[in-house]
Amino acid sequence: MEHSFPILPTISTSCIVISAVLVGYGWYLIRQRNVEAHKKVMLSAASFALLFFIIYISRTLFIGNTSFGGPESIRIYYTIFLIFHIFLAAVGAVFGIVTILSGLKNNLIRHKRLGPITSVVWFCTAVTGVAVYLLLYVFYRGGETTSMIKAILGF
Ligand code: HEM
Repeated sequence: MEHSFPILPTISTSCIVISAVLVGYGWYLIRQRNVEAHKKVMLSAASFALLFFIIYISRTLFIGNTSFGGPESIRIYYTIFLIFHIFLAAVGAVFGIVTILSGLKNNLIRHKRLGPITSVVWFCTAVTGVAVYLLLYVFYRGGETTSMIKAILGF
């Protein structure tokens, strides 16, 4: 069931994509000098990122992570790519928090330095995230799904 209709991964991947689109729009807005709209749109982008994170963590705890179901010969490349994506997401999250705080505190020197970097990292996170989703569920059927809790408690 989980494999043929991966509803949670589809929702969470959509959240990253929506978040990245909002960051692009927020960047456009600040180029128009529209500070209030920039702030609103960037905070919505952060909410979608947070929603992604909540879904992802709940899934990891209660349902589990799905292993790669494609050919063994390319599994290593998938794994390296997945680690690269997770690395981008982690960097994006930390930079995102610092960028938001600098914006809210009106620390514009730091904010103007970080804003573009955070945005580009977040775009790359979204693109690699969609690629991971496609590799895991669309191009190949997902492998086994093992929950952390199931694995630990054995049911
Ligand atoms: C509460 C949240 C935020 C507030 C209040 C805020 C506020 C501002 C302000 C006032 C500027 C204009 C700075 C200036 O031209 O002197 C700015 C620029 C910018 N912000 Fe934000 N911002 C927020 C969140 C974000 C986030 C989350 C990102 C990226 C993910 C971001 C990316 C940018 C970028 C790319 C610029 C343009 C920098 C440049 O002109 O080179 N902002 N922000």
